[in-house]
Amino acid sequence: MEAFLNKGIKEIIDQYPDVEKILDEYGIGCGPCSVGICELKDIVDIHNLPDDQEQELMQKIAGIIYPGQDIKIPPGKKKTPAAAGEIKYSPPMKQLVDEHVLIKRWIALIPAVVNNLDLESGEGRQLILDGIDMIRSYADRYHHAKEEDILFKYFDEKSEILQVMYEDHTTGRAHVKAMLEALDRKDKATLGEHLLAYRELLTEHIKKEDEILYPWMDRNLSTTQVGELFSKFSEVDEKIGFSPDKYEQFVAKLEEDQKWQIFKDAPDHAR
Ligand SMILES: [Fe+2]
Ligand SMILES: [Fe+2]
Repeated sequence: MEAFLNKGIKEIIDQYPDVEKILDEYGIGCGPCSVGICELKDIVDIHNLPDDQEQELMQKIAGIIYPGQDIKIPPGKKKTPAAAGEIKYSPPMKQLVDEHVLIKRWIALIPAVVNNLDLESGEGRQLILDGIDMIRSYADRYHHAKEEDILFKYFDEKSEILQVMYEDHTTGRAHVKAMLEALDRKDKATLGEHLLAYRELLTEHIKKEDEILYPWMDRNLSTTQVGELFSKFSEVDEKIGFSPDKYEQFVAKLEEDQKWQIFKDAPDHAR
């Protein structure tokens, strides 16, 4: 079994397709991942399953790889039990999670914005420019830069999970570029498509970070490193050159606007 723990998961799934179903049962979705270089042992470690579930999962995988044989599963690492229903983050990681909250509030409004796209009036165009500014300045230059320039440097940047995160950031930037070009051409359909695609991308991306990546990183950072991260993030906050409050106000204003509330809840044909 040791040999399989050190094998790439894609290779194992190619050889034993049923392994993917077993991983899915435990909420570990490796099938859609495009990179596929994670080793089985890393996947098990990163998802931090309770000990009994980890043993059960490994036993099921062993049953597929070595049918009918009694395979001994090596004990997993000692786990820090998470509070029921709640993930405990270190202070710097909590900052990133809080930044996600504001980004999620904006992307939740995107379907209503798309259904009301008005590229003819100055007000309508300004709304899109403000939304794109929030994506570029707050989500990308501020938040993603903290991840790419600081946090990810503490880990192996060639690891699959980080490659996926980098790819998502790059895809997000490509959507923004396409949004600006579509806005220039007053091409509503393309602008709407890229806004919605960005929403979908970031929704999944934030979920991966909040639920899998950050908790795993927290488990692997030393107390000294957590302190370092905290002070490096504070430096970014001081130097950033804009107040994140501006974006909080942008989102709050949209949320308060009854018009959006009505469109958000209305069925498509009534819009
Ligand atoms: Fe990210
Ligand atoms: Fe993030």
